[in-house]
Amino acid sequence: MSYGARIIGVGSGFPETVVPNSYFETFLETSDEWIQTRTGIKTRRICDPAKGENTLSLALQASQKALKHANVKAEDIDLIIVGTVTPDTVMPTTANQIQALIGAKKAFSFDLQAACSGFLYGLSIADQYLQTGKATRALVIGVETLSTLMDWSDRGTCVLFGDGAGAAVLERTETSNKIISTKIYSDGNYGDLLCVPHGYSRVPPWSPEFSPKMNKIKMKGAEIFKIAVRSMVEASQEILRENNMTAKDVDFFIFHQANMRIIDMCAKTLGIEPHQTWNNVEKYGNTSAATLPVCLDEAWQAGKVKPGDTILMATFGGGLTWGSALVRL
Ligand code: UT7
Repeated sequence: MSYGARIIGVGSGFPETVVPNSYFETFLETSDEWIQTRTGIKTRRICDPAKGENTLSLALQASQKALKHANVKAEDIDLIIVGTVTPDTVMPTTANQIQALIGAKKAFSFDLQAACSGFLYGLSIADQYLQTGKATRALVIGVETLSTLMDWSDRGTCVLFGDGAGAAVLERTETSNKIISTKIYSDGNYGDLLCVPHGYSRVPPWSPEFSPKMNKIKMKGAEIFKIAVRSMVEASQEILRENNMTAKDVDFFIFHQANMRIIDMCAKTLGIEPHQTWNNVEKYGNTSAATLPVCLDEAWQAGKVKPGDTILMATFGGGLTWGSALVRL
């Protein structure tokens, strides 16, 4: 008998404040027109710590909604994985704090760092635990407050990112409604293309070389763009091939939301119709590890996907990390 992991509920969490592109025109040499045409982004959400908004509060919002959607009690969760590169504290982890806040007494919990691929990495790991029976119900969260890592004088990055969280509840199943397969990849040779160079033990804050500006996200955008398209397309093709499927066997596709031009190029190469995807980079910008579960949540709520549908998700991020997942909802 073969077991798997079924996604039975999803939820999202966002800060209240909506920041439009016009905000950046007030202090940077940029324009709403440039940002929209080069990225598709119109607005993003940014946390206000004065309102108690932070990584944990967003993750909590998303988790509570996902548990409600799944009709699962927190005490029945036995594994919590949080994909994030922007935890509020390194210790305890975001996952440990979520465990306490929701009251998931039985769960073991940990954070993982895979940048924008954090949710998909978490999904893949949880899938292994549920397949083997080492866990029965998992909560997988992708959450990011990338506003904390922005250099607000760098127009090449600060207009792109936003804060947000998405969560999914997974349950062990014997049915064919399950994660069919996941593929996760990394290549550290290209780590410098998207990184936060200072502020950790390589160049700690007390070191003479430390520069606050280098404690922010640095990105070689044009190089990342090309690799992102290639990686998401290849990861999608490879997972289909391995499962003897083609794009025609898939009902719905969700791509990491970094740039509408990247998404369009992936969709075109794979021969996907616009109605087969869900995109929201326009509203939220790039929320890194949160983009996939947030899209799944919105598409599910809008009735664009329903139980029984086959969904392909693909992601790409710093590290470099990337991957794909084939899911029968
Ligand atoms: O989440 C995972 C990783 N992230 C991504 O996948 C992001 C991938 N990269 C991208 O989305 C795009 O490369 C960007 C949106 C970052 C940049 O778009 P681009 O079309 O690749 O522009 P570019 O980097 O080649 O820059 C073209 C010009 C440059 O000016 P010069 O050197 O030609 O005078 C930039 O300085 O656009 C300039 N530029 C801007 N101009 C106005 C860069 N950012 C801005 C801006 N407003 N915000």
